[in-house]
Amino acid sequence: MSAQKIIIDTDPGQDDAVAILLALASPELDVLGITTVAGNVPLPLTTRNALQVCELAGRPVPVHAGCDRPLKRHLVTAEHVHGKTGLDGIALPDPSTEPAPGHAVDFLIDTLRAEPPRSVTLCPLGPLTNIATALRDAPDIADRVARIVLMGGAYFEVGNITPAAEFNIYVDPEAAEIVFRSGIDVTALPLDVTHKTLMTAPRVAAFRDMGTRAGEAVASWTDFFERFDKEKYGSDGAPLHDPTVIGYLLRPDLFTGRRINVEIETLSDLTRGMTVADWWGVSGRPANATFIGGIDADGFFALLTDRIARL
Ligand code: RIB
Ligand code: CA
Repeated sequence: MSAQKIIIDTDPGQDDAVAILLALASPELDVLGITTVAGNVPLPLTTRNALQVCELAGRPVPVHAGCDRPLKRHLVTAEHVHGKTGLDGIALPDPSTEPAPGHAVDFLIDTLRAEPPRSVTLCPLGPLTNIATALRDAPDIADRVARIVLMGGAYFEVGNITPAAEFNIYVDPEAAEIVFRSGIDVTALPLDVTHKTLMTAPRVAAFRDMGTRAGEAVASWTDFFERFDKEKYGSDGAPLHDPTVIGYLLRPDLFTGRRINVEIETLSDLTRGMTVADWWGVSGRPANATFIGGIDADGFFALLTDRIARL
């Protein structure tokens, strides 16, 4: 079976970094490129971090810098979670590679037009600004995307940046609305599932005990950003949000969800960025997304550990 072609759109972020490592360590996936977006930290840092992670993995993947702010809103960042660099934890060497020439949006459009129709899966791990801009600038690509599998949103778990909204959707709700209304096959991995993938002490130790740079990096990154979640949720470790997107591509049998209608709040300041997920089918609105709520967390971490150990 040929490898699944994907483009990872990302705002590294320690959890994004783990997702990128998982993808690069998995032969079932052909990572055509990485597109960076402003989110956890400003664009120059998310781009630098993506370059560092690809070099850590020893995989030369083109990294294209994208949008440095949301479609309409001021950029909101999350240094309080991810640290000043966005990748606080282990000290990685300065990147020796440069971003690939060309804006991320042009790379998305050009690649989707060049590859066979419906052969490329988009994997957004941050605010959806690049994806929405590409769909707005080149509406023809909507029919060429195989599917979008993204980390974002929340329903039963409610918000993590406000009481109502998850960070990726909150930062650029207008972009999220474009994506969820695009007609493309969207699968969302919201906080409802990512809060079930906690990096507990034994799981962190499994990475540290690998004795590899990649294992040490994963352990140090989650050690760093878990303090936010422990203080807030009292959780027994940091939720690994973004790697669930790659885990879903590799082992969808580990996940459960429902095909439902999901709308994005863009008008209210109070509930900006809320994913209004019609889990009980009461709205009568047509289903537009597969909303994931369940995971075999032990199975997911067995997969993640096995793959990171290969780097
Ligand atoms: O709310 C979690 C999401 O916001 C993750 O993608 C994390 O990296 C941040 O971007
Ligand atoms: Ca992210």
